[in-house]
Amino acid sequence: MRLSHIVSIFPVILSVSLAQAQPLVPLPPSPPIPLSNLETPAKVSLGKKLFFDPRLSVNGSISCAFCHMPKAGYADPRPVSIGVGGKRGGRNAPPVLNAAYLNLLFWDGRAGSLEEQALGPLTNPVEMENPSNQSVVDRLRKIAAYRTSFREVFGGDVSIDRIGEAIAAYERTLVTPDSPYDRFLMGDAKALSPAQKRGFMLFKGKARCVLCHSGALLSDQSYHNLGVPQTGTLPVDVGRYAVTHDPLDKGKFRTPPLRNVALTAPYMHDGTFRTLRQVVNFYDRGGGKSLFATKDPLLVPLHLKNSEKRDLLAFLKALSGETKKEMNQP
Ligand code: HEC
Ligand code: HEC
Repeated sequence: MRLSHIVSIFPVILSVSLAQAQPLVPLPPSPPIPLSNLETPAKVSLGKKLFFDPRLSVNGSISCAFCHMPKAGYADPRPVSIGVGGKRGGRNAPPVLNAAYLNLLFWDGRAGSLEEQALGPLTNPVEMENPSNQSVVDRLRKIAAYRTSFREVFGGDVSIDRIGEAIAAYERTLVTPDSPYDRFLMGDAKALSPAQKRGFMLFKGKARCVLCHSGALLSDQSYHNLGVPQTGTLPVDVGRYAVTHDPLDKGKFRTPPLRNVALTAPYMHDGTFRTLRQVVNFYDRGGGKSLFATKDPLLVPLHLKNSEKRDLLAFLKALSGETKKEMNQP
Protein backbone atom coordinates (compact mmCIF):
# COMPACT_ATOMS: atom_id res chain seq x y z
CA MET A 1 0.00 0.00 0.00
CA ARG A 2 1.31 3.46 -0.90
CA LEU A 3 1.96 5.97 1.88
CA SER A 4 -0.75 8.31 0.58
CA HIS A 5 -3.35 5.56 1.11
CA ILE A 6 -2.16 4.94 4.63
CA VAL A 7 -2.38 8.66 5.34
CA SER A 8 -5.96 8.89 4.17
CA ILE A 9 -7.07 5.75 5.97
CA PHE A 10 -5.41 6.50 9.29
CA PRO A 11 -5.40 10.28 9.69
CA VAL A 12 -6.15 10.10 13.41
CA ILE A 13 -3.39 7.61 14.15
CA LEU A 14 -0.93 9.80 12.28
CA SER A 15 -1.84 12.94 14.13
CA VAL A 16 -1.59 11.07 17.40
CA SER A 17 1.93 10.02 16.62
CA LEU A 18 2.71 13.65 15.76
CA ALA A 19 1.37 14.67 19.18
CA GLN A 20 3.89 12.21 20.67
CA ALA A 21 1.59 10.05 22.78
CA GLN A 22 3.87 8.49 25.36
CA PRO A 23 3.29 5.46 27.57
CA LEU A 24 1.36 5.98 30.80
CA VAL A 25 4.02 5.32 33.41
CA PRO A 26 4.43 6.23 37.10
CA LEU A 27 6.18 9.50 37.93
CA PRO A 28 9.88 8.83 38.58
CA PRO A 29 10.62 9.34 42.32
CA SER A 30 12.83 12.34 41.57
CA PRO A 31 13.09 14.72 38.62
CA PRO A 32 16.23 15.26 36.54
CA ILE A 33 18.78 17.47 38.34
CA PRO A 34 21.10 19.58 36.17
CA LEU A 35 24.82 19.17 36.77
CA SER A 36 25.10 22.96 36.89
CA ASN A 37 22.83 23.16 39.96
CA LEU A 38 23.43 20.22 42.26
CA GLU A 39 21.22 20.00 45.29
CA THR A 40 22.22 20.26 48.92
CA PRO A 41 19.82 20.41 51.87
CA ALA A 42 21.08 23.94 52.66
CA LYS A 43 20.40 25.13 49.09
CA VAL A 44 16.89 23.63 49.15
CA SER A 45 16.10 25.31 52.45
CA LEU A 46 17.40 28.67 51.19
CA GLY A 47 15.24 28.25 48.07
CA LYS A 48 12.24 27.53 50.24
CA LYS A 49 12.84 30.72 52.28
CA LEU A 50 13.04 32.76 49.08
CA PHE A 51 9.88 31.11 47.65
CA PHE A 52 7.84 32.19 50.68
CA ASP A 53 9.47 35.62 51.17
CA PRO A 54 7.39 38.65 50.10
CA ARG A 55 10.55 40.78 50.26
CA LEU A 56 11.28 39.47 46.77
CA SER A 57 8.57 41.82 45.46
CA VAL A 58 9.06 45.55 44.97
CA ASN A 59 7.07 46.63 48.06
CA GLY A 60 7.33 43.50 50.21
CA SER A 61 3.73 42.53 49.52
CA ILE A 62 3.81 39.23 47.60
CA SER A 63 5.92 36.07 47.45
CA CYS A 64 5.99 33.28 44.88
CA ALA A 65 3.59 31.40 47.19
CA PHE A 66 1.05 34.24 46.90
CA CYS A 67 0.23 32.92 43.41
CA HIS A 68 1.47 29.34 43.88
CA MET A 69 -0.35 28.42 47.09
CA PRO A 70 0.56 25.18 48.87
CA LYS A 71 -3.09 24.57 49.76
CA ALA A 72 -4.08 24.88 46.10
CA GLY A 73 -1.50 22.37 44.84
CA TYR A 74 0.98 25.28 44.44
CA ALA A 75 -1.31 26.82 41.81
CA ASP A 76 -3.56 29.90 42.07
CA PRO A 77 -7.23 29.48 43.03
CA ARG A 78 -8.00 32.80 41.22
CA PRO A 79 -8.79 32.55 37.49
CA VAL A 80 -5.94 34.95 36.65
CA SER A 81 -3.18 35.93 39.06
CA ILE A 82 -3.05 39.20 40.95
CA GLY A 83 0.31 40.93 41.30
CA VAL A 84 1.66 43.86 43.33
CA GLY A 85 -0.97 46.58 43.80
CA GLY A 86 -3.80 44.28 42.67
CA LYS A 87 -2.79 44.25 38.98
CA ARG A 88 -4.40 41.33 37.17
CA GLY A 89 -2.33 39.18 34.84
CA GLY A 90 -3.60 37.45 31.69
CA ARG A 91 -3.30 33.80 32.69
CA ASN A 92 -4.00 31.25 35.40
CA ALA A 93 -0.92 30.26 37.43
CA PRO A 94 -0.13 26.58 36.88
CA PRO A 95 1.06 24.39 39.77
CA VAL A 96 4.74 24.43 40.69
CA LEU A 97 4.26 20.83 41.95
CA ASN A 98 6.05 18.50 39.51
CA ALA A 99 7.05 21.42 37.23
CA ALA A 100 10.57 20.01 37.63
CA TYR A 101 9.68 17.21 35.19
CA LEU A 102 8.61 19.58 32.38
CA ASN A 103 10.84 20.23 29.35
CA LEU A 104 9.48 23.72 28.77
CA LEU A 105 7.65 25.99 31.19
CA PHE A 106 4.62 28.29 30.93
CA TRP A 107 1.39 27.84 28.98
CA ASP A 108 3.28 28.80 25.82
CA GLY A 109 6.56 27.00 26.63
CA ARG A 110 8.64 30.19 26.64
CA ALA A 111 11.05 29.24 29.48
CA GLY A 112 13.51 26.36 29.30
CA SER A 113 14.57 25.79 32.90
CA LEU A 114 13.37 26.38 36.44
CA GLU A 115 16.48 28.51 37.03
CA GLU A 116 15.55 30.78 34.11
CA GLN A 117 11.84 30.80 35.00
CA ALA A 118 12.33 31.79 38.63
CA LEU A 119 13.77 35.18 37.64
CA GLY A 120 10.86 36.11 35.34
CA PRO A 121 8.30 36.98 38.05
CA LEU A 122 10.76 39.31 39.86
CA THR A 123 10.60 42.03 37.21
CA ASN A 124 7.25 41.13 35.59
CA PRO A 125 5.13 44.33 35.76
CA VAL A 126 1.98 42.38 36.73
CA GLU A 127 3.78 40.17 39.24
CA MET A 128 6.57 41.29 41.62
CA GLU A 129 7.20 44.53 39.73
CA ASN A 130 10.87 45.12 40.62
CA PRO A 131 12.54 47.68 38.31
CA SER A 132 15.53 45.36 37.74
CA ASN A 133 17.13 42.11 38.88
CA GLN A 134 19.88 44.17 40.50
CA SER A 135 17.35 45.92 42.75
CA VAL A 136 16.31 42.53 44.18
CA VAL A 137 19.95 41.55 44.72
CA ASP A 138 20.65 44.89 46.49
CA ARG A 139 17.63 44.41 48.78
CA LEU A 140 18.58 40.85 49.79
CA ARG A 141 22.21 41.87 50.36
CA LYS A 142 20.98 44.20 53.11
CA ILE A 143 19.42 41.26 55.00
CA ALA A 144 22.05 39.65 57.27
CA ALA A 145 20.39 36.22 57.35
CA TYR A 146 20.49 36.02 53.55
CA ARG A 147 24.12 37.19 53.42
CA THR A 148 25.03 34.31 55.75
CA SER A 149 22.93 31.67 53.93
CA PHE A 150 24.21 32.58 50.45
CA ARG A 151 27.78 32.41 51.73
CA GLU A 152 27.11 29.00 53.32
CA VAL A 153 25.43 27.57 50.23
CA PHE A 154 27.38 29.19 47.38
CA GLY A 155 30.55 30.35 49.10
CA GLY A 156 29.83 33.94 48.01
CA ASP A 157 27.49 36.91 47.97
CA VAL A 158 23.83 37.15 46.89
CA SER A 159 23.57 37.23 43.06
CA ILE A 160 20.66 36.99 40.68
CA ASP A 161 21.76 33.61 39.29
CA ARG A 162 22.14 32.18 42.78
CA ILE A 163 18.62 33.34 43.67
CA GLY A 164 17.32 31.42 40.63
CA GLU A 165 19.40 28.35 41.46
CA ALA A 166 18.25 28.14 45.08
CA ILE A 167 14.57 28.56 44.16
CA ALA A 168 14.90 25.94 41.40
CA ALA A 169 16.58 23.49 43.80
CA TYR A 170 13.62 23.89 46.17
CA GLU A 171 11.12 23.46 43.34
CA ARG A 172 12.75 20.13 42.40
CA THR A 173 11.69 18.80 45.81
CA LEU A 174 8.03 19.71 45.18
CA VAL A 175 7.11 16.40 43.58
CA THR A 176 4.25 13.98 44.20
CA PRO A 177 5.26 10.54 42.88
CA ASP A 178 3.04 8.66 45.31
CA SER A 179 -0.55 9.13 44.08
CA PRO A 180 -3.09 6.27 44.09
CA TYR A 181 -2.70 6.28 40.29
CA ASP A 182 1.07 5.67 40.55
CA ARG A 183 0.50 2.88 43.07
CA PHE A 184 -2.03 1.31 40.69
CA LEU A 185 0.43 1.47 37.77
CA MET A 186 3.06 -0.17 39.96
CA GLY A 187 0.80 -3.15 40.57
CA ASP A 188 -1.40 -2.31 43.56
CA ALA A 189 -4.77 -3.25 42.07
CA LYS A 190 -6.64 -1.88 45.10
CA ALA A 191 -5.15 1.62 44.85
CA LEU A 192 -8.01 2.71 42.55
CA SER A 193 -11.71 2.32 43.36
CA PRO A 194 -13.92 0.50 40.83
CA ALA A 195 -15.24 3.88 39.57
CA GLN A 196 -11.67 5.18 39.17
CA LYS A 197 -10.69 2.06 37.22
CA ARG A 198 -13.65 2.55 34.88
CA GLY A 199 -12.65 6.20 34.57
CA PHE A 200 -9.10 5.20 33.64
CA MET A 201 -10.44 2.94 30.86
CA LEU A 202 -12.53 5.85 29.55
CA PHE A 203 -9.50 8.16 29.77
CA LYS A 204 -7.54 5.77 27.57
CA GLY A 205 -10.50 4.84 25.36
CA LYS A 206 -13.85 6.41 24.58
CA ALA A 207 -13.04 9.81 26.13
CA ARG A 208 -9.78 10.10 24.11
CA CYS A 209 -7.97 12.08 26.82
CA VAL A 210 -4.78 10.04 26.38
CA LEU A 211 -4.37 11.39 22.84
CA CYS A 212 -2.82 14.47 24.50
CA HIS A 213 -2.56 13.70 28.23
CA SER A 214 0.08 10.97 28.09
CA GLY A 215 3.44 10.12 29.65
CA ALA A 216 4.35 10.26 33.33
CA LEU A 217 2.95 13.80 33.71
CA LEU A 218 -0.19 13.06 31.67
CA SER A 219 0.93 15.70 29.20
CA ASP A 220 2.42 15.23 25.73
CA GLN A 221 4.25 18.53 26.46
CA SER A 222 2.96 19.72 23.12
CA TYR A 223 0.55 22.52 22.13
CA HIS A 224 -3.09 22.38 21.03
CA ASN A 225 -5.98 24.73 20.39
CA LEU A 226 -9.13 23.42 22.09
CA GLY A 227 -11.23 26.53 21.49
CA VAL A 228 -11.24 27.40 25.21
CA PRO A 229 -13.42 30.50 25.76
CA GLN A 230 -11.19 33.53 26.35
CA THR A 231 -12.77 35.01 29.50
CA GLY A 232 -9.76 36.40 31.38
CA THR A 233 -8.30 39.90 31.26
CA LEU A 234 -6.96 39.47 27.71
CA PRO A 235 -9.49 39.81 24.87
CA VAL A 236 -7.30 37.54 22.69
CA ASP A 237 -4.47 35.20 23.65
CA VAL A 238 -2.39 33.87 20.76
CA GLY A 239 -0.65 31.31 23.01
CA ARG A 240 2.33 29.45 21.55
CA TYR A 241 2.37 31.78 18.50
CA ALA A 242 3.95 34.52 20.64
CA VAL A 243 7.01 32.28 21.02
CA THR A 244 7.32 30.68 17.55
CA HIS A 245 5.56 33.25 15.27
CA ASP A 246 4.28 30.27 13.31
CA PRO A 247 0.67 30.96 12.24
CA LEU A 248 -0.12 27.27 12.84
CA ASP A 249 0.53 27.89 16.55
CA LYS A 250 -2.10 30.60 17.00
CA GLY A 251 -4.35 29.87 19.96
CA LYS A 252 -2.38 26.78 21.00
CA PHE A 253 -1.46 26.15 24.64
CA ARG A 254 0.65 23.50 26.30
CA THR A 255 -1.25 20.39 27.36
CA PRO A 256 -1.09 20.84 31.14
CA PRO A 257 0.00 17.91 33.29
CA LEU A 258 -3.03 16.44 35.10
CA ARG A 259 -1.24 15.52 38.30
CA ASN A 260 -2.98 16.96 41.40
CA VAL A 261 -5.59 18.43 39.06
CA ALA A 262 -8.33 18.01 41.69
CA LEU A 263 -6.46 20.60 43.83
CA THR A 264 -5.70 23.21 41.19
CA ALA A 265 -9.04 24.75 40.14
CA PRO A 266 -9.85 26.84 38.20
CA TYR A 267 -8.82 25.33 34.88
CA MET A 268 -7.36 26.22 31.46
CA HIS A 269 -4.89 28.99 30.52
CA ASP A 270 -7.37 31.72 31.49
CA GLY A 271 -8.95 29.87 34.42
CA THR A 272 -12.31 29.93 32.66
CA PHE A 273 -13.70 26.69 34.17
CA ARG A 274 -14.34 26.54 37.92
CA THR A 275 -14.81 22.79 38.16
CA LEU A 276 -13.57 19.57 36.58
CA ARG A 277 -17.18 18.77 35.74
CA GLN A 278 -17.24 21.87 33.49
CA VAL A 279 -14.00 20.70 31.87
CA VAL A 280 -15.43 17.23 31.18
CA ASN A 281 -18.62 18.74 29.74
CA PHE A 282 -16.48 20.96 27.49
CA TYR A 283 -14.69 17.91 26.06
CA ASP A 284 -17.99 16.04 25.77
CA ARG A 285 -19.21 18.81 23.44
CA GLY A 286 -16.05 18.42 21.33
CA GLY A 287 -14.35 21.54 22.74
CA GLY A 288 -15.21 25.14 21.86
CA LYS A 289 -15.14 27.55 18.94
CA SER A 290 -11.83 29.22 18.21
CA LEU A 291 -11.02 32.57 16.64
CA PHE A 292 -8.20 30.79 14.85
CA ALA A 293 -8.31 28.07 12.19
CA THR A 294 -6.03 25.87 14.32
CA LYS A 295 -8.66 24.05 16.43
CA ASP A 296 -7.44 20.52 17.08
CA PRO A 297 -9.16 17.85 14.92
CA LEU A 298 -8.63 15.31 17.71
CA LEU A 299 -11.54 16.91 19.61
CA VAL A 300 -14.88 15.40 18.65
CA PRO A 301 -18.18 15.13 20.58
CA LEU A 302 -17.81 12.19 22.97
CA HIS A 303 -21.45 11.34 23.85
CA LEU A 304 -20.49 10.35 27.39
CA LYS A 305 -23.28 9.09 29.66
CA ASN A 306 -23.65 10.81 33.04
CA SER A 307 -22.28 7.71 34.77
CA GLU A 308 -19.24 7.82 32.49
CA LYS A 309 -18.62 11.48 33.32
CA ARG A 310 -18.75 10.58 37.02
CA ASP A 311 -16.22 7.78 36.50
CA LEU A 312 -13.88 10.06 34.60
CA LEU A 313 -14.09 12.65 37.40
CA ALA A 314 -13.38 9.93 39.98
CA PHE A 315 -10.28 8.95 38.01
CA LEU A 316 -9.00 12.55 37.88
CA LYS A 317 -9.14 12.61 41.69
CA ALA A 318 -6.77 9.61 41.84
CA LEU A 319 -3.97 11.76 40.41
CA SER A 320 -3.26 13.68 43.63
CA GLY A 321 -0.19 12.83 45.70
CA GLU A 322 1.47 14.23 48.79
CA THR A 323 4.65 16.27 49.06
CA LYS A 324 7.05 15.50 51.85
CA LYS A 325 5.76 17.42 54.89
CA GLU A 326 8.92 19.44 55.47
CA MET A 327 8.61 20.91 51.96
CA ASN A 328 5.35 22.69 52.75
CA GLN A 329 4.71 26.18 54.06
CA PRO A 330 7.02 27.17 56.93
C1 HEC B 1 1.52 37.47 40.55
C2 HEC B 1 1.41 36.04 40.54
C3 HEC B 1 2.67 35.21 40.41
C4 HEC B 1 3.82 35.32 41.19
C5 HEC B 1 4.13 36.30 42.29
C6 HEC B 1 4.67 34.24 40.72
N1 HEC B 1 4.07 33.53 39.73
FE1 HEC B 1 4.79 31.85 38.84
N2 HEC B 1 3.31 31.94 37.46
C7 HEC B 1 2.26 32.84 37.49
C8 HEC B 1 1.51 32.72 36.25
C9 HEC B 1 0.27 33.52 35.88
C10 HEC B 1 2.16 31.73 35.48
C11 HEC B 1 1.79 31.28 34.06
C12 HEC B 1 2.21 32.36 33.08
C13 HEC B 1 2.19 31.94 31.64
O1 HEC B 1 2.13 30.74 31.36
O2 HEC B 1 2.25 32.82 30.78
C14 HEC B 1 3.28 31.25 36.30
C15 HEC B 1 4.14 30.21 35.93
C16 HEC B 1 5.11 29.68 36.76
C17 HEC B 1 5.85 28.46 36.50
C18 HEC B 1 5.69 27.55 35.29
C19 HEC B 1 4.84 26.36 35.60
C20 HEC B 1 4.49 25.55 34.38
O3 HEC B 1 3.68 24.63 34.50
O4 HEC B 1 4.98 25.83 33.28
C21 HEC B 1 6.72 28.29 37.54
C22 HEC B 1 7.72 27.15 37.74
C23 HEC B 1 6.54 29.41 38.43
N3 HEC B 1 5.55 30.22 37.94
C24 HEC B 1 7.30 29.66 39.57
C25 HEC B 1 7.29 30.89 40.24
C26 HEC B 1 8.33 31.33 41.17
C27 HEC B 1 9.55 30.56 41.55
C28 HEC B 1 7.94 32.57 41.62
C29 HEC B 1 8.67 33.51 42.57
C30 HEC B 1 10.00 33.92 42.16
C31 HEC B 1 6.67 32.88 40.97
N4 HEC B 1 6.33 31.85 40.13
C32 HEC B 1 5.95 34.01 41.23
C33 HEC B 1 1.95 33.71 38.52
C34 HEC B 1 2.86 34.10 39.49
C1 HEC C 1 -6.24 17.58 21.63
C2 HEC C 1 -5.49 17.40 22.85
C3 HEC C 1 -6.28 17.17 24.13
C4 HEC C 1 -7.22 16.21 24.41
C5 HEC C 1 -7.75 15.13 23.48
C6 HEC C 1 -7.61 16.41 25.79
N1 HEC C 1 -6.92 17.47 26.32
FE1 HEC C 1 -7.16 18.22 28.18
N2 HEC C 1 -6.01 19.83 27.67
C7 HEC C 1 -5.33 19.99 26.48
C8 HEC C 1 -4.82 21.34 26.39
C9 HEC C 1 -3.99 21.91 25.24
C10 HEC C 1 -5.26 22.01 27.55
C11 HEC C 1 -5.06 23.50 27.87
C12 HEC C 1 -5.95 24.32 26.93
C13 HEC C 1 -6.04 25.78 27.21
O1 HEC C 1 -5.83 26.21 28.35
O2 HEC C 1 -6.37 26.53 26.28
C14 HEC C 1 -5.98 21.02 28.35
C15 HEC C 1 -6.51 21.25 29.62
C16 HEC C 1 -7.10 20.27 30.40
C17 HEC C 1 -7.46 20.44 31.79
C18 HEC C 1 -7.20 21.69 32.63
C19 HEC C 1 -5.97 21.50 33.47
C20 HEC C 1 -5.47 22.74 34.14
O3 HEC C 1 -4.54 22.61 34.95
O4 HEC C 1 -5.97 23.84 33.87
C21 HEC C 1 -8.04 19.27 32.22
C22 HEC C 1 -8.58 18.95 33.59
C23 HEC C 1 -8.04 18.38 31.07
N3 HEC C 1 -7.46 19.01 30.00
C24 HEC C 1 -8.55 17.09 31.10
C25 HEC C 1 -8.80 16.36 29.94
C26 HEC C 1 -9.66 15.20 29.89
C27 HEC C 1 -10.39 14.60 31.08
C28 HEC C 1 -9.68 14.82 28.58
C29 HEC C 1 -10.51 13.71 27.97
C30 HEC C 1 -11.94 13.88 28.13
C31 HEC C 1 -8.81 15.71 27.83
N4 HEC C 1 -8.30 16.64 28.70
C32 HEC C 1 -8.56 15.64 26.46
C33 HEC C 1 -5.22 19.02 25.50
C34 HEC C 1 -6.09 17.96 25.35
